[in-house]
Amino acid sequence: MADLDLQEIHDYLISLAREAGEMITSAHPTTSASGTKKNSADLVTETDRAVETLVSTSLRTRYPHILFMGEETYAPGDLLTAAPTFIVDPIDGTTNFVHRLPYACISLGLAVNLVPAVGVVYNPFTQTLYSAITGRGAFLNRTTPLPLASPTPLGALSNCLVAVEWGSDRSGNDYDVKVATFAKLAGSKEIGGAMVHSLRSLGSAALNMCAVASGALDVYWETGCWAWDVCAGWVILKEAGGLVADGNPGGWKPRVDGRRYLSVRGGEGQKELVEEFWGVIQGKCEVGLETS
Ligand code: IPD
Repeated sequence: MADLDLQEIHDYLISLAREAGEMITSAHPTTSASGTKKNSADLVTETDRAVETLVSTSLRTRYPHILFMGEETYAPGDLLTAAPTFIVDPIDGTTNFVHRLPYACISLGLAVNLVPAVGVVYNPFTQTLYSAITGRGAFLNRTTPLPLASPTPLGALSNCLVAVEWGSDRSGNDYDVKVATFAKLAGSKEIGGAMVHSLRSLGSAALNMCAVASGALDVYWETGCWAWDVCAGWVILKEAGGLVADGNPGGWKPRVDGRRYLSVRGGEGQKELVEEFWGVIQGKCEVGLETS
């Protein structure tokens, strides 16, 4: 990492995020005109592709020595290596974008040695910018440190506001594990549940991680999402005092491309909360096991 100027890269990623943000807010997506990838819940628009082209062209020109991985140009089998790599989601929250729900962002990350080192997450609809450089703190709109308030102790899951996501795979083992876990998280103690304050499913992994970094959410659990959904948010969360554990029980050191993530905000009792959450998961997700 010694030869990379992370501050300069961070600043450039912010300017790129703002430029891409204008493309995103000036687009007119419709649910009917959007295309699908794997299935009807896995959406992509012309704007996702155009933003990725802008970002990849700009980054490849300015940093020809840094590799690039993007959601819309990823091909199965492309492997993340230890080499410095930009990991980019041009629009995270595409489903919200096509429905005009203003909870979507551009997510620009840089991983070095497979570890997220720089993260920029920008919601152009609310003009909310989260960013971080490893070892240098995380910020909202460049100047306000994250978390937004001094973190209170986490306590039990029954004190927590928890984000989960449905993802786009809606059958099979991992779907069954998710649905059963959602029920267990929400259920009352009388029926053996954890009785969390509530569950949220907001539709953007990157913004969920930033909400955990801010302290607005206590926990976010998702299995099945990808490195570009989490790379930028990961460094922002970590710099805000949070942690990312494996979305399956037992793993304290998940890989950025491991596809199973349990994010917990900063505050006393983090590890105990992770262990309590792992105890609630109803089975084992199969996704990502090949990278573990
Ligand atoms: C999706 C969002 C969503 C998550 C999915 C992701 P996209 O990203 O982050 O919250 O549940 O797993 O694929 O498709 O909007 O870039």
